[in-house]
Amino acid sequence: MGLVVRNGEIVTVGSRVKGDVYAENETVTRIGKNLEVPPGTEIIDASGKFVFPGFIDPHVHIYLPFMATFAKDTHETASIAALIGGTTTYIEMCCPNRTDDALAGYELWKSKANGKSACDYAFHMSVTKFGEETESQLREIVADGTSSFKIFLAYKNFFGVDDGEMYQTLTLAKKLGVIVTAHCENAELVARLQAQLIAEGKTGPEWHEPSRPESVEAEGTGRFATFLENTGATGYVVHLSCERALNAGVAAKERGVRLSVEAVLPHLLLDKSFAERPGVEGMKHVMSPPLRAKKNQDVLWNALSRGLVDTVGTDHCPFDVEQKLLGTDAFTNIPNGIPGIEDRVNLLYSFGVQKGRIDLDRFVDIASTRAAKLFGLYPRKGTIEVGSDADLVVFDTNYRGIVSAKTQHVNNDYNGFEGMAIEGRPSVVTVRGKVQARDGKFVGERGRGRLLKREPAYF
Ligand code: URP
Ligand code: ZN
Ligand code: ZN
Repeated sequence: MGLVVRNGEIVTVGSRVKGDVYAENETVTRIGKNLEVPPGTEIIDASGKFVFPGFIDPHVHIYLPFMATFAKDTHETASIAALIGGTTTYIEMCCPNRTDDALAGYELWKSKANGKSACDYAFHMSVTKFGEETESQLREIVADGTSSFKIFLAYKNFFGVDDGEMYQTLTLAKKLGVIVTAHCENAELVARLQAQLIAEGKTGPEWHEPSRPESVEAEGTGRFATFLENTGATGYVVHLSCERALNAGVAAKERGVRLSVEAVLPHLLLDKSFAERPGVEGMKHVMSPPLRAKKNQDVLWNALSRGLVDTVGTDHCPFDVEQKLLGTDAFTNIPNGIPGIEDRVNLLYSFGVQKGRIDLDRFVDIASTRAAKLFGLYPRKGTIEVGSDADLVVFDTNYRGIVSAKTQHVNNDYNGFEGMAIEGRPSVVTVRGKVQARDGKFVGERGRGRLLKREPAYF
């Protein structure tokens, strides 16, 4: 049975038209005005609403063994939360650590999602060491359709790679046409600063930011860019948090380095005073790179509106209060991460578009289209065109609500954005032509999500 979304304002990058979208066999087959549809077609009235392409979160953690514990969500809970919030595709970081076998890790991450996710998904494959088998294993993973890598310059002795391993990864990525995403903080400096602060008795969550200052992130961003420049590889800085790191990224872009930049929701809306709150309230807001001085928020919004920052993800990474309390004696033991998969689109619309910081065109680009283009999903995802997957978000700009852990679907007992006002939310969300969420509720088919195979693109 087909589905038609009638009379909405269809918004894609560079285009806004009023009309209907008709989908059949999972794809958009017609776009126009007053479309004739066969009897039995499911009709969704989008009058007075926007119709956006399904949103893409390019940076999430769902299955994640990390800092002596595991992130809380499953693909079932995370995908339902994602869909309610308008995200129809997410890209999860597949993160085996240095002592794990990469291929076994890849299979493990796939098994956690298979048949469980209600929305479509893909992986960035982390390269956490570069040994004898790494090249052949990565070739196998790319041949399987996972055509993006992840490296961590932070997290010494766990996920972190050294400069030699970064060079090997980028050289191989260039040969394979694979984009490399990178967490850019200097691992050695973080380790030294952490040890120094702890030795001085500075153990609370308020010391997390000083242990990873802006200069440490700027160094990592600049070094990653220099390695891209000298290998010819294509890169993407994840969760860039501050002006100094942005300057390093923009300077690289200006000299022709093939580099894109991601901001994440926490750095746009929260500042370091949240992590300075006493006890567990502060711990809830510990992530890396850390929440920064407030002035960086305007810098990031401005860079988003000017196209200097390319995408907005979440770095969704839920740990509950009990897990956060693992860091009671030392901030270095607080599991790093803040959830956000359910709230990204609504908060970005409310604090970006509604507050006049970004226009609708940038909103669609940074929350959907650009990620689809960078990660080999376009035009299947990230747009509304004949032939695209029918992932549609009918968006109600009149909705008003408040973010709260009490009403969230993410598997966690707090929400880092608690109390923030929402101005607009999805009223209907489809995945490949099937309605999966309506007005804050999951109404679809569990396990409908598919692993998206992606071709290498950056030779
Ligand atoms: O604090 C964070 N960001 N936790 C998840 C791991 C990472 O670095 O992305
Ligand atoms: Zn990271
Ligand atoms: Zn992350």
